[in-house]
Order: sequence, then C-alpha cells, then structure tokens
Amino acid sequence: MDTYLPSMTLETYLCDTVQAHPVLKASVDFGRPGADKALRALVATTTEFDSDDTGRGDSYRRAQRNSSVRWRGMRQLLELAAPSDTAAPRTVLDVLGGDGTIARAVHENAPDLRNRVHILTGDLSGDMVERALAQGLAAVRQAADHLFLADGTMDAALLAYGTHHIAPQDRLNAVTEGLRVVRGGGRVVLHDFDDTSPMAHFFTDIVHPHTTAGHDYRHFSRGPLAELFEEAGTPARVIDLYDPLVVRGDTEEEARRRMCAYVADMYGVGGFFATLGGTDACWQVLEQYFQHEKYLAGLPAKVDFTPAPVVYRSDGVFVAEVPRAAIVAVARKAAR
Ligand SMILES: C[S@@+](CC[C@H](N)C(=O)[O-])C[C@H]1O[C@@H](n2cnc3c(N)ncnc32)[C@H](O)[C@@H]1O
Repeated sequence: MDTYLPSMTLETYLCDTVQAHPVLKASVDFGRPGADKALRALVATTTEFDSDDTGRGDSYRRAQRNSSVRWRGMRQLLELAAPSDTAAPRTVLDVLGGDGTIARAVHENAPDLRNRVHILTGDLSGDMVERALAQGLAAVRQAADHLFLADGTMDAALLAYGTHHIAPQDRLNAVTEGLRVVRGGGRVVLHDFDDTSPMAHFFTDIVHPHTTAGHDYRHFSRGPLAELFEEAGTPARVIDLYDPLVVRGDTEEEARRRMCAYVADMYGVGGFFATLGGTDACWQVLEQYFQHEKYLAGLPAKVDFTPAPVVYRSDGVFVAEVPRAAIVAVARKAAR
C-alpha cells in the first residue's frame, strides 16, 4: 500500500498522526475483517471534492472558510447528536466531515460547545482529510460504509451535508457502521434533503447540468430513511430541520452578492452564475429555486421556516438568508 493520504503512508499516519491525537489513539482500528479490501478501494478513489480538477474541491473549501453560513443547521444537528443533558464532553464522529467544517464551526461560533463537543472528522477524500489534519484537527480517511474505528468508541455519529453522495447500495452499511462505532445510549444522526425539496431541485436543475462533475445523486425521502434505520436494527424518528444559508454584508447589495458568491463556490456553479450577468440575476435564480411555500405546505407537520430568500437588517448589518429544509433521522443506540 503506497499512500493513505496524498502525502502520507498509512504507516506514517499510524505512527505520527494517530499518536498525536488522543481521540484517534483511542479509536482508530485498521485490523477489523475487510479492512485491507476497504483500504485498497479507498486509496484508489478519486472524488469530486479532492480539487477543482476532479470537481469542486478547491472552490468548496474556499466557501467553507466562512463557517458561520450554515451554523444554524449545524448547531441543531450537534444538539441532536450530543444533547446538552450532561456536562460530560462528547465525541462526535462527523462521517462526511470534509476538511473539518463542523469542527472549525464549533470552535469559531460556539464557545459554549467547545469543551462539551469534540469532533472527529472523517472523510473519503484524501485531500479533504489532509487539509483537516493541516489545521491541527483530528481526522481519519475512511468510507462511510467501512469505518476504521473500533466498536463503541464514539458518543455519536453524524452523517450530514452530503449523505446523498453515499451510493444507495452502501447506505445501509453506512448506518450500520455509524451504529457500530457509537457506544450504547449514543446517537446516530443522518441529515439530507428530501428528493422533492427545493434543494434537491436546485441540484438537479442547476448543479447537475452546469458543473464538470455533475450531480447525479439520489437524495432521501422520509419513509425509506426510516426503513434504513429499522433495517439496521435501531429505529429512528425523522424530523424536518431548518438549515438556512446566512451571509452578512454592510449593504443589501453586498449581502446578496456575498450569498451568490458563497453558493457559486459551495456548489461549483461559479461558471454558470458568471453567464447570468450580475448579482440581481443570480439572486433571482436563488429566489426561484429556494421558494419553499409549496414544499412546506406538504409537510406532515406544520413548521415555522422562512419560506423564501430574504434580506433583512440585524445588529447594524444586512443579512441575506436562503432557506433550506432538510430531513433528519435521529436514532439512539440501545444501552447495553
Ligand atoms: C458536501 S461535502 C461536506 C463536507 C463538510 N461536512 C461540510 O459541510 O463542509 C461532502 C463530503 O462527503 C465526502 N464523502 C462523499 N462520499 C463519502 C463516503 N462514501 N464516505 C465518506 N465521505 C464521503 C466528500 O469527500 C465530501 O468531503
């Protein structure tokens, strides 16, 4: 086996990186049955999140420098994964953690969570994991459906912000793996977008045709999501979660422009937005696609979500808010 990460062998990772991070030292396990095969598949994988040459990796990471944009959703997910019912620190595995956006977001946006919630960043992409490590974060390169972690070593596992990238045939294994590495009484939380949601339509109509890597992924829906957890042996409740994009600016125009730039980088649609001829036209696309009224009216229970993109004044600045309605499964592993 040559490289585990783009510039690191597995041996170096185990001898240096793992030893430097207590959470990795206490949990990493490359000795489970099937690990060799999973490792071979992993290192042969190239993903659209590696770089802009393979898809949208560099622009995606540029967008994530502002960790506050999706903080509202992230915070709710962390509360679901690690409820504040005890002051004891919790270790949450962020299974699709990228270069550590959630770990950074906790540090930058939530002094109250810093000592209570510790994030272990996992990801399929070697480039993502290498960049997380370069920031001093604990991180492990692994596929969601085969985690290189020992049983019961995490307090919670979070599969969020990209769960639709896990191939449908691997989703049951991903949930089973999340449940395996979580201790008894711990939580597994899975977040994605309903395949009838405005976010899913934006991916299909805008991201897929206008990006080099496309976006040919199946999202989730409530029934099959609940069934996935039933099949994994631990039932989950499925809830609706308000997960907006929130960007600030000194003027209304600046807030809108920054939002358009964020969406362009995050979803790799900068080339398409550039053809539209300016902020007003890009904002109109967001208004068209992130209009939630019809979707919200069809939800099983009434929710109090902002239904459409808005710009408002708050604390002396202008805030652009683009709503996104996510669905989230929350499961609690039986205590032994
Ligand atoms: C949309 S990004 C989200 C990254 C980060 N959580 C964030 O919110 O910024 C999705 C991430 O999932 C990773 N990914 C895709 N398929 C995966 C899989 N099967 N197992 C683990 N990670 C995967 C990608 O490499 C990518 O970094």
